[in-house]
Parts: sequence; structure tokens; C-alpha cells
Amino acid sequence: MKIISVAHYDALSQAAADHIAAQIILKPNCVLGLATGSSPVGAYRRLVERGLDFSQVRSVNLDEYVGLGPDHDQSYAWFMRKNLFDHVNIDQSNTHIPSGLAGEEECARYDELIRALGGIDMQLLGLGVNGHIGFNEPDEVFCKGTHKVALTESTIQANKRFFARLEDVPASAYTMGVGDILQAKRVLMVASGTSKAQAIRDAFAGPITPKVPASILQLHPDFTLIADEEALSLL
Ligand code: GLP
Repeated sequence: MKIISVAHYDALSQAAADHIAAQIILKPNCVLGLATGSSPVGAYRRLVERGLDFSQVRSVNLDEYVGLGPDHDQSYAWFMRKNLFDHVNIDQSNTHIPSGLAGEEECARYDELIRALGGIDMQLLGLGVNGHIGFNEPDEVFCKGTHKVALTESTIQANKRFFARLEDVPASAYTMGVGDILQAKRVLMVASGTSKAQAIRDAFAGPITPKVPASILQLHPDFTLIADEEALSLL
């Protein structure tokens, strides 16, 4: 794995945007695996500012809350439109996110879709404070394909800031599995702030274990972590 250490969030966003921009320039019709959360927002803003040509880009997002439709302002579909898709020339019909309103058959459909697109060229990831990636929560086993997951208490607590009331935070989500993520040709993770320091240490300086889902990235042949000094402070 490659670690790029930067001073602060803005430098992290610049560096991540550089990597994603290079991918789009090298392969204009690439399949980008995209992530939500606050970590990639700055990178998306930088990509928008650069006026890159997204006309042929295809995208697959990692995850979506079960029960939230694309018009719910806390859905990840909404997040992606507001933070990226509405501001670049991507063909919205080339953007894919699991449907939070579908039944569990959505999981098999989503894995088939990723296969039909030819796989993911570059997967962008954030990192949960408990080491989760996408919504692959700490578990006894690694889950390979897209699946429905019950969110842990720590994730519900971390995500409640986006909802009016704690009871509004969805309790489950559809997420790509670690197999889907590991099959991406390149994986790029962004992590910022002291709240991520322990997860980074557990994931990349400890054993590979489903109790720290991000630890499996130690096995990926082309994995880059871009993190600021605070996030790397325990490594
Ligand atoms: C959510 C998302 C993850 C994201 C994580 C961290 O749980 N499903 O994909 O990485 O939050 O979010 P943040 O970047 O806001 O810390």
C-alpha cells in the first residue's frame, strides 16, 4: 500500500482530486466507484472546479440506506447529485447507486451491474470510525458481494448528525461487499482528522480481520491512502 501524508483536509482533497482526474484523463469511459460521507466532499468540489469531462464516465456508488428513496435529502443518491453529479457533465443514466426502496433482490442486481460494466477502475473510499468501508461493518466474516447490513450503534451515532432525530437514522443499508471493493483495479481511501486515527492504526498496522473491515485493503495490489497528519497520528 502507498500512504500519502498531507498537512490538512484541503491538501487531501487536492491530492484525491488529482488521482481521480488522472484516472478520467487516462480512461475517459472509466468506471468510478464513488463514496459518500464528509471525507470525499472536498475532492468532489475540486473535481467540479477543474471542469473535467465526465461525459463518458460511468459510476457505481458503494452504498445506500434501506428505506430512503433518491428524493430523500439524506439518501446517498441525493448526496451524490448535490455534491457532484449536478455540477459535472456526467450522463445521469450512467450513475448507479443501490436503490434503498428495493427489496433484497437489489443486492444480486447490483453485483451483476458492476460485472456488466466491466468492473471498477478506481474505487474511492472513506473510513468509518470503527474501520468500516462502504457499510461493511465489523463482523465475524468478510462479506463478498452486495448485501443488506444492520448498521452498528457506533455508525448510527456517527451518522445521526445528518438527521433531525436519532430515530430518523436508518438502521440498515445496502452495501457493496469487500469482494466488490477488492476487485476494483485501484482503490483510493481518504481519511481526515483525529477521529479516524485509531481506525487507521487498526486497519493498516494490525492483523487482517473482519472485525476491522478496512484491514483487508492490506491485500490489495494497488491501494493508496491519502490522509492528513491528524488521521495518521497513531500510525
Ligand atoms: C458512512 C459511509 C461510508 C463513509 C463513512 C465515513 O458510514 N457509508 O462510506 O466512509 O460514513 O464518513 P465520513 O467521511 O463522513 O467520516
